[in-house]
Amino acid sequence: MISRTISGALLLVALLFFGASLAMAQEPTPGVKKSTAPRTNAASGVEMFNTYCAVCHGKDAKGDGPLATELKIPPANLTMLAKNHDGKYPTDYVSQVILTGPRDAKSHGSKDMPVWGTVFKSMGDDASVKQRIFNLNKYIETLQAK
Ligand code: HEC
Repeated sequence: MISRTISGALLLVALLFFGASLAMAQEPTPGVKKSTAPRTNAASGVEMFNTYCAVCHGKDAKGDGPLATELKIPPANLTMLAKNHDGKYPTDYVSQVILTGPRDAKSHGSKDMPVWGTVFKSMGDDASVKQRIFNLNKYIETLQAK
């Protein structure tokens, strides 16, 4: 009897967790809408990456985030940036993508997905936008494939 109650309680807890993770999976992309973008510490590249980028690019930046399959254009594998740019991590290019989106791609600049520059500007002054981009770059650079 007692054990049944306990396993019932455990099941309930498990269901709650499952429900919560389902609900999270169905929420709009975190950070994608300006108004809902969660605040992060501009000094923490890893926190910003995991909050704003991992949902598409994956925590490991390989392009396999939970939202990847929903997108028409697959999210780029960000661990290959250096390899794809003659072995040198392309800081300026990545900064430009973050600020204004990839040149001819819709995925960072459609109306549902404002470019990150706009999102970051809504969170602080120009210096803080620069700091965010600088620290995101520093973090993504550490993820480069050797
Ligand atoms: C809603 C999904 C989504 C989110 C969130 C997202 N990206 Fe992207 N990103 C994409 C897609 C899709 C592409 C590849 C296609 C394209 O060029 O648009 C891409 C391309 C890129 C590229 C170009 C890669 C290359 O090889 O040229 C960079 C750099 C990049 N993203 C950085 C970021 C950073 C940094 C963040 C977080 C601040 C982020 N992205 C968040 C979807 C996303």
